[in-house]
Parts: sequence; C-alpha cells; structure tokens
Amino acid sequence: SSSNPDLGRKSSSVQKLNEKPKKQKALNLQPPKGMRDFPPPLLRQRTYLFSQFRRTSLSHSFSEYDAPVLESEELYTRKAGEEVTEQLYCFEDKGGRRVSLRPEMTPSLARMIMSTKPALPLKYFSLPQCFRYERMTRGRRREHYQWNCDIWGIKGIEAEVELINMIVTFFESVGLSENDVGIKVNSRGIVKDLLEGLGVREEVFAETCVLIDKLEKVPVEALKKDLEELGINENQITSILDTLVHKDISKISEIIGPDSAAVQEITQLFSICETLGIEKYLEFDASVIRGLSYYTGIVFEAFDREGNLRAIAGGGRYDKLLESFGGESIPAVGFGFGDAVIVELLKDKGLLPDFDKGSVDFCVFSIDSGGTSSAMKLGNELRTKGFSVDVVLEEKKMKWAFKHADRIGAERVVIVGGEEGERGEVKVKNMESGEQETVELKGVGEWAEKIIGE
Ligand code: HAM
Repeated sequence: SSSNPDLGRKSSSVQKLNEKPKKQKALNLQPPKGMRDFPPPLLRQRTYLFSQFRRTSLSHSFSEYDAPVLESEELYTRKAGEEVTEQLYCFEDKGGRRVSLRPEMTPSLARMIMSTKPALPLKYFSLPQCFRYERMTRGRRREHYQWNCDIWGIKGIEAEVELINMIVTFFESVGLSENDVGIKVNSRGIVKDLLEGLGVREEVFAETCVLIDKLEKVPVEALKKDLEELGINENQITSILDTLVHKDISKISEIIGPDSAAVQEITQLFSICETLGIEKYLEFDASVIRGLSYYTGIVFEAFDREGNLRAIAGGGRYDKLLESFGGESIPAVGFGFGDAVIVELLKDKGLLPDFDKGSVDFCVFSIDSGGTSSAMKLGNELRTKGFSVDVVLEEKKMKWAFKHADRIGAERVVIVGGEEGERGEVKVKNMESGEQETVELKGVGEWAEKIIGE
C-alpha cells in the first residue's frame, strides 16, 4: 500500500484528524484603525445627522447625487503637495488599474458634471463616505462621512452666501448658535494680489497656497526649501505672514490697495450676509487658506468658538478645477462638512438626543400558548395603518414582554389572547403612563390611528 500515493495521503489526513486542533489566534474585534462600526445607537445618531443635512439641502432646493466610493487614482493625483493626495487609500485592482477610495467628493462631482453636462446653474448635494490615511485626532478619522453642497454655474458672490447660509441653517437646526460656532471667511484673491505685489510668479499660485496653509501648522523652517523652489525668499515669507495675520478687511485693503477686486468682493459678501442676518456668525480672517489646491477665490471654514476642535466644515470657490481635467472651466463653489467633528461638538454642548432606544409604536404579544400567529396577524394590521410594530415571536412570560418592550423603546404593548381574547378584545398598556385600556379587536387599527393622531 505504501506504493500507492493516494492511500499514503489518506493515512496522513487521518492522522491530522486525530491531532489536537491548534488554538486559533483570537480575532481582533476592532475594525481597522480609524474605521468605525455603527451598531444601532450610533447608526440612529448618524441617521439623525444625515436627516438634518438632507432637510437643509432640500429646503435650499439642492438635488442629491452619488458616485462610486472607488475611483481612478488619477482623479486625485494633483501635484501641488496637498495632504489629501498623500493620504490616499490606493491600490492596483485585479485588472491592473490604479484605483483609490475617494478621499473627498469634489473630483467625482467634477468628473460627473463633465460627463453628464447638466443644465447650469445647478445645486447638488451628497453624503459620501470618504477615506484618508490621516493622523488621528479628536474628530479626525481615516473614514468620515462628509455632507457636500456645491453650486455650479454662478460667478457671483451670492453663491458663496447661499452656501454659508445653509451651514448656518444647519447649525440652528441642531440647536447651535453664534455663541457656539462661527465661520471664518477669506479670499485667495487677496493672497493672489499679495503674491503679485511681491513679484511671485502666477503659475505657482496654487502650490504656494497649499504651502502657506501648512505654515499655520508647521514651522517655516520645514517648508523653506519648498517655498524657495517656488521662488519665494525669506523676506517675502515674512511679508506674507505679517499680512495674513489680519482680521480686519480695511488693514488688508491698506496693504494691497483699495482697488483690489478680492477686497471688494469679500466686502460685498459681508454686506449680503448682514441683510440675511447671518453676519453674527462671520469673521474675516486672512490666515484661512484651506489646504486644497483647487480653490481660486473665497474660502471659508466653520469652527467652534471654544477652539477645542479642528475645522467643522471647509469650502470655497474652485472655478478652474475642470481645466485641470482637460475641460472648459465652469464657475463652482462648495463645501464639505464632516460628521465627526460636529458630533463631538454636539456631545460637548449636550445637544445630542438620546439614541440608545429606537422608536416603535406597538409591541404585540400573545399570552395564549400557540397564539403567536394571532399576534403576527394583528401586527400586520397595524403596519398597514403605517405604524412600526414589533411582534414577540417566542412564547414568553408577560414580565419578559414588558421588559422587552421597554428595551426596544415601544410606546405601547398590545396583549392578545386570555380572557379579553375570548371576548374579542385586546388589552393595551401605555408604557410611559402605565395606563391600560381594553379595545375591541376588530377596530384596533382605527383606534390606533385615533389615539396616535391625538
Ligand atoms: P476638506 O477641507 O478637505 O474639503 O474637508 C472638509 C471637511 O470634511 C472638514 O472640515 C471636516 O469636517 C471633514 N473632514 C475632512 N477630513 C476628515 C477626517 N479625516 N476625519 C473627519 N472629518 C474630516 C474637502 O474635502 C472639499 N472637497 C470640500 C469641498 C466641496 N469644496 C468644494 N466642494
């Protein structure tokens, strides 16, 4: 038999079966670093946030769109030294294509607009999940959802105001006020005028903005070489930094001249916001540049006034993005508003509703042995009236059913069977008040409509 290779193999597998199985390495129960699970309470919280984002968008007549989570890597490989392009979750797919999880939505939107050529102007919103390999801090993760609102086809500053107005509408809808949050506004046009005055070449504008944005976070020394390569020397850096500290438009106007179109534009923006009564949220801040290379004009960021958290939202005008994709430019402005920082802020302020329990109108329970199907039938009847109904699917004690109803957040328990059942009735208990009443089984649907409608 040893000459038969098959038999030999068989005996070794028998041997393996007799071996004591090796202990499996325990599974790591955490999702990959920076990623989140959404068990029901957290998903309810997310749904609440999304519903406020959606409501705000729809009330401003924005249309919702979506795009793939996985895109071609080339959509993001801009060469301006931006952080996002260094944080890509990118890889080669099985067909040898370079792809990336989206770090942001704007390039996908631009691609979609180039390919579908919709009528302009348009107002679009989306709630994409985005992935960036970030250094983790409070409110900064490797995956986040980002409410995006964008207006395409409008050149004037009214588009920026509309978007800022939406951010304010959202804040107020979740209970925040100008005492809690604000929006800093600046214009890259101001930076452009400043650089022009200093004799910096126009071609390096975008890269310079990305570097200046980093100057806020890292020491000048670390960026000096990169700035020199763009033709910016130490004296010029000093002038830039000295100018960008200002929080008063008139100071900027003194430096770059009162004829600057950028200064006039931002002054106009503040004036329209005053008409709308939202100026109390706004601050001019010349140091706000934003880290993305495609912004060309107004830039803004929402922040918490206590200064504990990173930017709540960020956006700006990006009139030339399509050019970088080989298309014709279309004026565009938009913002991204993450789900992580705002939740931290709402938690700090005690403004998050309690999401531990769901909301269920009725929990239906049968006390008769073999009565589950009657409970299911009644459950269906209530569902056709539009109520959310949980039916106890196992034969359980009354005490268990009430505990269960409390755990799932049911408002009322309907008890089917027993003496009431014999009389063609059901017993209903209001979980909050503890009140009980008896209702005729036949008319339960109408009765429910009446009491819940009250
Ligand atoms: P962004 O400034 O890179 O802009 O991000 C916008 C917002 O997304 C941030 O202010 C923050 O709320 C959130 N966010 C970004 N990265 C993270 C992260 N790692 N963890 C948690 N939240 C994060 C953009 O992405 C632009 N595409 C926005 C835009 C739309 N501009 C024009 N239209």
